[in-house]
Amino acid sequence: MMTEFTSADGVLRDRRVVGRYLQFYADEHPISAQLFGSDPAVLADAARLCEDLGFDLVDLNLGCPAKKVVKCNGGSGLLRDLPAIGRIFRAVRAAVRIPFTVKFRAGWSEQEIVCVELARMAEDCGLAAVALHARTREQGYSGFARWEWIAAVKAAVRIPVVGNGDIRRPEDAAAMVGQTGCDAVMIGRTAASNPWIFRQIAEYSARGCYEEPGEADRYSMIRTYFEMLIAEETPGAIGKMKQFVSWFTHGVPNSSGLRKAVYEARSEREVLERVTAFFEGNALPAAAHAASLSAVLS
Ligand SMILES: Cc1cc2nc3c(=O)[nH]c(=O)nc-3n(C[C@H](O)[C@H](O)[C@H](O)COP(=O)(O)O)c2cc1C
Repeated sequence: MMTEFTSADGVLRDRRVVGRYLQFYADEHPISAQLFGSDPAVLADAARLCEDLGFDLVDLNLGCPAKKVVKCNGGSGLLRDLPAIGRIFRAVRAAVRIPFTVKFRAGWSEQEIVCVELARMAEDCGLAAVALHARTREQGYSGFARWEWIAAVKAAVRIPVVGNGDIRRPEDAAAMVGQTGCDAVMIGRTAASNPWIFRQIAEYSARGCYEEPGEADRYSMIRTYFEMLIAEETPGAIGKMKQFVSWFTHGVPNSSGLRKAVYEARSEREVLERVTAFFEGNALPAAAHAASLSAVLS
């Protein structure tokens, strides 16, 4: 498990960033802290801070395609400057004792594929593993991940290779391992819409079949998560709740009414009440009922 990507600059300048992005629970080990940035000395200092905070690994993000990150040479912005990546690898590796890993895209564009060279450099600089999201920066999230790039990286290095991109079901995870020989798989978007994917992959590997989550599983997951957000007074909790209700209830019959009711809620408690009302079969507010009725009729 890994934290959301965290600005190395930000975390050194403002300790509130630690509270917001680099928190973890005692039962979440082993856990990795993911950093982004472009200055080797700043990244090295931030990595040391992560080690001091008790993280088991530190990871460098060379995959984020967002304009505001790329503009400062962070995330996938660095993929066009391999010597700069080498300087970061060496500075961070020398700064910490914990394992250091990297997550990257295949290259800036189809014409500038660097994943094999980058993985070899990571190995030479003493990184413990590499994770490849097999798309280019230019692709964003469009098209398909090109798993053959994962196979090429796996063939080029001896350190563990983690494959990433377009795993939606356990069968996809098995296919990625089969086609690329990768040592592990990483799940992005499906973790948010179907957090049971991890259990399902374990079941599928052991028995060749897996169970789908029921409504009770979904309710329990949403409720637990929302109660944690409320108890910890998480900044931006209401926004997260609205986003996660939408992700967690896709495919649940009549849930469009719930999503509308939650969207209109004005407080965290109100969100939770509306979720409870939906899953326990109580009445949703009139507007939400009308919405779910029209969803059924349409
Ligand atoms: C909303 C969102 C946030 C993401 N944040 C991060 C991040 O902080 N660090 C990271 O390495 N990748 C991040 N990713 C990328 C995913 O980890 C993953 O590489 C990508 O979505 C492809 O894998 P998937 O097909 O399993 O989703 C993010 C993706 C999305 C959609």
